[in-house]
Amino acid sequence: MNRARLAGRLIGLGITGSIAAYKSVELLRALQAEGAEVQVLLTPSAGRFVAPLALEALSGRPVESDLMALLADGRIGHIVIADTADVIVVAPATANWLGAMANGLAGDVVTAACLASAAPVVVAPAMDGEMYAHPATRANVARLRDEFGYRIVEPESGVLASGQTGVGRLAELGRIVDAVVEAVGDRPVRAADPALRPPRLSGTAREADLEGRHIVVTAGGTREAIDPVRYIGNRSSGKMGVALAEAALDRGARLTLIAGSVDVGLPPAAEVIRVESTAELESALGSILGAGANNRAGFDALIMAAAVADFRPRRPATSKLPRGAALSLELEPTPDLLAAAVQAARQLRPVPILVGFAAETGSLERAVDKLTRKGVDLLVANDVAEPGSGFGSNTNQVTLLAADAPAEAWPLLTKREVADRLLDRLAARLDARDAAAQTGRSEVPQESPT
Ligand code: CTP
Repeated sequence: MNRARLAGRLIGLGITGSIAAYKSVELLRALQAEGAEVQVLLTPSAGRFVAPLALEALSGRPVESDLMALLADGRIGHIVIADTADVIVVAPATANWLGAMANGLAGDVVTAACLASAAPVVVAPAMDGEMYAHPATRANVARLRDEFGYRIVEPESGVLASGQTGVGRLAELGRIVDAVVEAVGDRPVRAADPALRPPRLSGTAREADLEGRHIVVTAGGTREAIDPVRYIGNRSSGKMGVALAEAALDRGARLTLIAGSVDVGLPPAAEVIRVESTAELESALGSILGAGANNRAGFDALIMAAAVADFRPRRPATSKLPRGAALSLELEPTPDLLAAAVQAARQLRPVPILVGFAAETGSLERAVDKLTRKGVDLLVANDVAEPGSGFGSNTNQVTLLAADAPAEAWPLLTKREVADRLLDRLAARLDARDAAAQTGRSEVPQESPT
């Protein structure tokens, strides 16, 4: 058998309420063995034969079963599957489902997805022999095949659940997989971008590729004292930095989180250093950057997601300022902590990977300049004025800039998805760094765009 005939494909696996539904678990595995990602669609009666939990654990994606429920990111699940699946395979397909589909009755997620989809559809019926032989069923199957162009994987003859022998047993799984492969043919992948596809279960999407790595993340905003009760702050919620910390922990990293002011809970497994001002953040970074013996780096990567003040009151008052007619504050610039951290980190061995963030309003041109000015390996630039991006929001639309690779504009993603994608790049760079050290080279390979 050719391996991975479905590599890179997303297959929608529709399961309807036949006792053969238990075989769908194996079908799921067989599709995965061909390199496919699988998104399960389950009708309510199918859910009585096979546990959604098993299907979720194996597919790594939440099962789509409720026509009325939205995905966590607000998208409509069965439409997302309809739009992104390379093939929808319905196995087993019951007599009831065939009838509903033949008449366009979108009363469950499987019919709804098929109706809404331009993807090829493969149907593997399974039922009692008399039911399959009934003219109504025959007519429904004929309509699916002849009018809708669906591929029918005819059931086989054998002993059925009733104990009787007849034609109605779900086709051998190999035949169903072959039909899916044929249906895909040489069509282009419909939605290669994982962000467009239905979401994965968080935490199961990536392997522990940061095990043994120590990652430092800064998150949240700084506060610069005006007097003991007042400060100059910014709108940072810390959500992006915390999403990065959680994602890195899920991938097995040791994680130090230097947190300024944040609106979200901090992951319990992180080693947390709380800071308030830029000066405190500077000294926390100093303690991390302090080299061990022989300039050994104590960490593998620094991700500066914190929103650091650019100015602070030159002389904060030591007691509360009384109300007055007007108040003028003299502000002094703060040091660029990231630029300084990059300089210090470049002296360490092995050299850590350094990642900055750039909050811009309007064009991202300044971010390109920041990449070189700060000397980072990667810069995540976002337009904080765009809807769905920036402070407080749960989503972000960013452009990834790299010193040695073309810019990548990512679609609107949840902050967790941005975090996972960024860590994909980071993990690859760390592996490349270590491989280069072993062979005595120091270059990092080019990024391949997603
Ligand atoms: N940063 C820093 N120290 C500062 C200001 C910013 O380390 N005093 C870091 C941020 O954590 C971020 C990156 O530098 O990773 C870019 O921050 P940004 O505010 O976009 O850039 P600035 O250097 O402040 O430039 P500007 O305000 O002119 O856009």
